[in-house]
Amino acid sequence: MSERYAKITGWGKYIPANVLTNHDLAQMVDTSDEWITTRTGIKERRIRTENDTTSSMSVAASLDALAVAGLTPQDLDLIIVCTSSPDYLLPSVASQVQDMLGATCGAFSLVAGCSGWVYGLATASQFITSGAYNRILVVGVEIISFAMDFTDRTTCVLFGDAAAATVVEASAEPGGLLSFELGSDGSGAQYLYVPDGGSKAPISPETLTERRQYLRMNGPEVFKFAVRTLASSMKRAIYQAGLTPDDIDLFIPHQANARIIESAARQMRVPVDKFFMNIDRYGNTSAASVPLALVEAIEEGRLKDGDTVAMCAFGAGLTWASVVMKMGTGEISAAHSLFSAGRARYLARRTSDAMLDAAQSAMLPLYTFLYQRRKKKK
Ligand SMILES: CC(C)(COP(=O)(O)OP(=O)(O)OC[C@H]1O[C@@H](n2cnc3c(N)ncnc32)[C@H](O)[C@@H]1OP(=O)(O)O)[C@@H](O)C(=O)NCCC(=O)NCCS
Repeated sequence: MSERYAKITGWGKYIPANVLTNHDLAQMVDTSDEWITTRTGIKERRIRTENDTTSSMSVAASLDALAVAGLTPQDLDLIIVCTSSPDYLLPSVASQVQDMLGATCGAFSLVAGCSGWVYGLATASQFITSGAYNRILVVGVEIISFAMDFTDRTTCVLFGDAAAATVVEASAEPGGLLSFELGSDGSGAQYLYVPDGGSKAPISPETLTERRQYLRMNGPEVFKFAVRTLASSMKRAIYQAGLTPDDIDLFIPHQANARIIESAARQMRVPVDKFFMNIDRYGNTSAASVPLALVEAIEEGRLKDGDTVAMCAFGAGLTWASVVMKMGTGEISAAHSLFSAGRARYLARRTSDAMLDAAQSAMLPLYTFLYQRRKKKK
């Protein structure tokens, strides 16, 4: 069989109309625009209207993505809907999306917290490169506000609702998905979870009294995990593609906190303006976060045909996932040739990054200690 590549050929988004600003939140909980902006970079987020459901938002984003790809729902071979906030616990929201679109293919939901869509993209690319399917819809969607405790200032200021969809198609031209990394560390489950409502602890009167149907988070632990993971996972995926961070035209990180993104840029020795950010307008939209940023990066002309993009998400699980993609067609990597200046540069940067990573890991406990001490003094 000839080589097959998995490329993104269509993209679309759906943003709910309700805007919830930091000033609105300051009327609801003990917080301020100044605190939220300086600690997270978020100014406002979107909250579903009464007409929005996870399935309706997915369909709206998907129709746009199909139009860009020049396809109809009947052309699809598979639908993957990545979300932690489905319409129902059962059946899978992917089947509602398939029905509402009028598609006639298989459909399944994928749960990997905020990393969902990146997991979904890597999964879709395997169906395509194996030759099983040619056209797959991958949706990242979240009505995370339904799991928000709007009396808990440590979580409710961070998240928002949105949907974004991508069409992934088979191509014989080199490009598309070059590498990926999927990760999980379930030992950190309690740092970001919804205690009740699953089969282990069904909803009970105690659930409601103790507000255990809402998302709980250990912010500082998730922060440390994110800072450790974002740069290191992206770098592993970049090197796996035979590239170095200098070869990446645009980084699209999970939009959880601007400080996490700035720290990743520093660790990778990449100017922060190469990291796309729309967190100020949407906050953390969980599984919709990275695809929404991708759609807006394309719409704003930040990502063009021939560009190489590295994307990374992290979240509940704990999970993380990175992909490196070449948009359009073209030369993939000089590093794969045996002798070339490109390969020499690649090996030199890889070695110096490995040394810096080791030094940074060794220093991390000291940095954390100094940061905690500074915070206590304030
Ligand atoms: C949540 C987060 C912004 C908090 O920032 P932080 O600098 O670590 O702040 P801390 O949690 O240490 O809290 C510092 C103080 O601010 C307070 N605080 C927390 N939320 C607040 C808010 N919305 N407004 C005002 N004060 C707040 C805390 O109660 C604490 O007060 P105390 O010192 O009197 O106890 C940060 O930890 C974070 O971004 N974590 C990662 C979250 C994330 O990305 N989750 C999703 C992953 S997919």
